[in-house]
Formats: sequence, structure tokens, C-alpha cells
Amino acid sequence: MKVLVTGGCGYIGAHTLADLLENGHEVVNIDSNARSNTDLLQGVEQLFNRPIPSYRIDLCDKNAVKNVFLEHPEIEGIIHFAAFKTVPESVEKPLMYYRNNLLSLINLLELVEEFKIPHFVFSSSCSVYGNTTDLPVTEATLRQNAESPYGNTKKIGEDIIEDLSKTSNSDFISLRYFNPIGAHPSALLGEIPYGKPQNLQPIIIETAKGQRNKLSVFGYDYPTRDGTCIRDYIHVCDVAHAHTLALTYLQKKQNTYNYEIFNIGSGNGVSVLEMIEAFETTTKQKLNYELVDRRPGDVEAIYANNSKTREKLGWKPKYNLNDMMLTAWQWNNTLSERKQD
Ligand code: WQD
Repeated sequence: MKVLVTGGCGYIGAHTLADLLENGHEVVNIDSNARSNTDLLQGVEQLFNRPIPSYRIDLCDKNAVKNVFLEHPEIEGIIHFAAFKTVPESVEKPLMYYRNNLLSLINLLELVEEFKIPHFVFSSSCSVYGNTTDLPVTEATLRQNAESPYGNTKKIGEDIIEDLSKTSNSDFISLRYFNPIGAHPSALLGEIPYGKPQNLQPIIIETAKGQRNKLSVFGYDYPTRDGTCIRDYIHVCDVAHAHTLALTYLQKKQNTYNYEIFNIGSGNGVSVLEMIEAFETTTKQKLNYELVDRRPGDVEAIYANNSKTREKLGWKPKYNLNDMMLTAWQWNNTLSERKQD
């Protein structure tokens, strides 16, 4: 199948390009590079020894996007990653987030209808569950008010797709990611934080590299087994493969409804202190950290019930927490070597 990937220069997008190619699909990329560069795209081209058709276009420019559809009439599937995703920035600049994340989605969906593209996969997030106590969360767990404008753009995005699906002849899937971390085993792909990283994994790496003198553990008095927040970390390659499986599921018409939702999480809740322990044990690097106050907006605990995804998509996470730590560490070491070159 020829698949249009938006945001293919990003962390999950690039890993998904690789997984699609690995599984015999053709790909076309659209990325504005507003929050990315072409390093990861070059990594994919190096991995598969072929050029990737790629367009540097802002999805808010509908006419520019339409020209890509005209140039590639064989596109059967779309995977939409492109969005701004920095939670604190979304709190400071809500209109920028609503405009960028929602207008780009609406433009794409109008083109899905105009060109009758059969399959559409949306990059959603576990943040739509908010601070739920219904754990592990299933896809039927009630969504709560989003903790940030970023999370709200994912929630509204799901609603837009659900409403469209009621009259569209296309099929739609939302994949709700938990916390993607790690890197491709080749160490040619990985996370390149845009600006100052906010997420735990890149901050652990920065601390281990001495680029940060200590890691602050945000909150140690939560009612969890060790007082720190619990999350569901999932290897980015497992997240990527879920997209390929989702398109195959739709292509084979195995879907029951023309809009379905799937949790993409390992199903294992891991605390911040356990993440630190896993990193230290796996990489033999000591991490300097301190226990500090909670970070506003953090949920105490969230992790997935992923049985629907396993059963319906045939998805089975391959990588464990040690793999996630080791591949992230190896990727970062090649990144540093490259910077020295
Ligand atoms: C994980 C845990 C922090 C940094 C975010 C987005 C979510 C999704 C995944 C896109 C939390 C703790 C972190 C630090 C810490 N993104 N932490 N010290 O917040 O679960 O989710 O990324 O879809 O929408 O909100 O991820 O990695 O920021 O935090 O203690 O320096 O690590 O408190 O408990 P989060 P995270």
C-alpha cells in the first residue's frame, strides 16, 4: 500500500516510516520541519538505502497538501502524526496549538473525503484519559477533561474524526499512545528533542551524559508504591509497528466499525524511581537525582489495558524496559559521535 505519513521527520513518524518500509509498503512524507529537521529522514533513507519522497509543507496550507495528493493518486492510507506536542508550551500558547493541530487535521480530512482515501490513522494520546482512577485504562474508559490545550487538541481531534466517520466511506483508527521511549536497534533512528526536553527519558540521558547536573524527580508523595508517578512506557518500535498493523487491519476489512480506537501501551506501570533504577542497571551509568515538588498537570498513575489491541490488531510488544533504556542510550551515543564529526 502507498501510505502518506505526516510528521515523518519526527520521533514516532520516522520509526513508522521504517516499519512501513520493512513491511513492504511505499511511503510519502509531509513535514513542515517546524519542530524537526531531516536527520531522522536521512536515517530512514540510510537504513533502507533509498530516497524517501518527502515534501516540506505546512499542513495548514491546504492547497500545498492537495498537490501532494494529486502527485500521488495511489495513496490508500494516511498516518497523521504532524502536530505540536509540548505540554507547557500549549498552556502558554493555546491558540497556536488549536490552530496548528486542528486546522492541519481538518485540511487532511477534507482531502481524505475529496480523494476518497480509504484508510486514516490518527496519532492520539493517553492524555485523553486525564487523571483517571479506572486503571488499567481500556479504550472504553471515560475520557476526562484534558490537562492541557495539547491534550485537548487530541481529544477534539478524536471527536472530529468520530463525527466524520458517521457519514464518510473511509475507515478511521485513533491510536492512543502511552509513553513512547527508546530507539531503533540500528541506532540510526531515535529521539531528537526539539528545544529543552520535558520528557523523562531524554532528561535521564542528558543527566547521564553530564549535560544536566541532576535529574529532578517531580513528586515523591503520590499514593503509589514508591511515592513517584507511574506511567506506561512503550518502545517506539512497538508503537511504530502498531501503525502498520492498523493499516493492514483496515485494508483486510477486519474492522467492525469505521471508527475504532486502540491503546498503544505495554500494560506495565513503571514509577519514576523504577525508571532510574532500570536505566542505571541496564547502562551501568549512575544517575544523580533529587526528590522535588510535584509538576503541575501530572497525573498520579496511568497504564494501559492493551488486550483489545493485542486481540484485534495482532499486536504484541517486542521490547522490554531494558531494551528501551539500552536502545535510547546507544542512539544517544551515536548522536554525540555524529555531532563530533
Ligand atoms: C513522565 C514522568 C513526570 C521529567 C507526556 C505528555 C503526553 C505524551 C507523553 C505525547 C512523569 C516525571 C519527568 C523530569 C520527572 N506526549 N518526570 N522529572 O508527562 O507522562 O506525558 O509525554 O503524546 O501527552 O504529557 O511524560 O516523560 O514528561 O513524564 O520526574 O525531569 O516522569 O512527573 O511522572 P508524561 P514525561
